[in-house]
Amino acid sequence: MLELEGIDVFYGPSHVLHALTAHVEEGEVLALLGRSGAGKTTTLKTVMGWLRPRAGRIRWRGQDISHWESVRIARLGFAMVAQGRRVFPSLSVAENLGIALNPTSPWSLEDVYQLFPRLEERRYQAANTLSGGEQQMLSLGRALVRGPRVLLLDEPTEGMAPAIVQLTHQVVEMLREAGITVVLVEQNLAFALSLAARVAVMNKGQVVYEGRAQEFAAHRELQVQYLGVSTTGLRVGS
Ligand SMILES: Nc1ncnc2c1ncn2[C@@H]1O[C@H](COP(=O)(O)OP(=O)(O)OP(=O)(O)O)[C@@H](O)[C@H]1O
Ligand SMILES: [Mg+2]
Repeated sequence: MLELEGIDVFYGPSHVLHALTAHVEEGEVLALLGRSGAGKTTTLKTVMGWLRPRAGRIRWRGQDISHWESVRIARLGFAMVAQGRRVFPSLSVAENLGIALNPTSPWSLEDVYQLFPRLEERRYQAANTLSGGEQQMLSLGRALVRGPRVLLLDEPTEGMAPAIVQLTHQVVEMLREAGITVVLVEQNLAFALSLAARVAVMNKGQVVYEGRAQEFAAHRELQVQYLGVSTTGLRVGS
């Protein structure tokens, strides 16, 4: 289990996470939801060790990793697909994948090229010449070949065409089936609820709701109360 307990994070004088408490079971997909500015990206960066909590504890399998260097956290198998730019722009597709490649990953380069034939066709092309959707495929491919134990995905469908959203869905399903722990930050509620087992909603740097995805999907009033939006006809994940 990954546990965050009473986390306080600041950017200079600005206090952004306020005694944030949440947990993720091993092998589950947790949807981390919340309005813009709620602190979702900050939470992911804190787990990765890129930001230091001023108070609180982060535990992985019972071990306190709150003050570990980010490289050491990465070595534990934590990886993040960041919001926005997700690839090395001047490197080729093959180089981007090669850097990420971990020989112990359940997924090989061949698996990635099979999943995304477009990437194989463009393997010698610089990443910054790829379309947005192709860059998304590359960032997902990088996440797979890295063989993470815990993957933090920050708004993977943002600005993506329906076909790419569908591919992204497929990749998260593959990760889930392989027993990878996934934290999925999403604005696309239907997408998040179709994959997640549980939901945590943030507001102003705190978790204000935690529950089963099924329950959150079934209760429009919860969606309206915590997100100000609702959606109908949802497919719910495990
Ligand atoms: N580098 C920074 N310096 C100062 N304040 C920051 C910095 N990054 C984020 N913030 C502030 O921290 C708060 C939380 O930001 P964060 O990016 O974590 O939100 P978010 O939930 O990921 O939002 P979004 O859905 O828009 O991506 C916001 O008020 C933001 O303005
Ligand atoms: Mg964000």
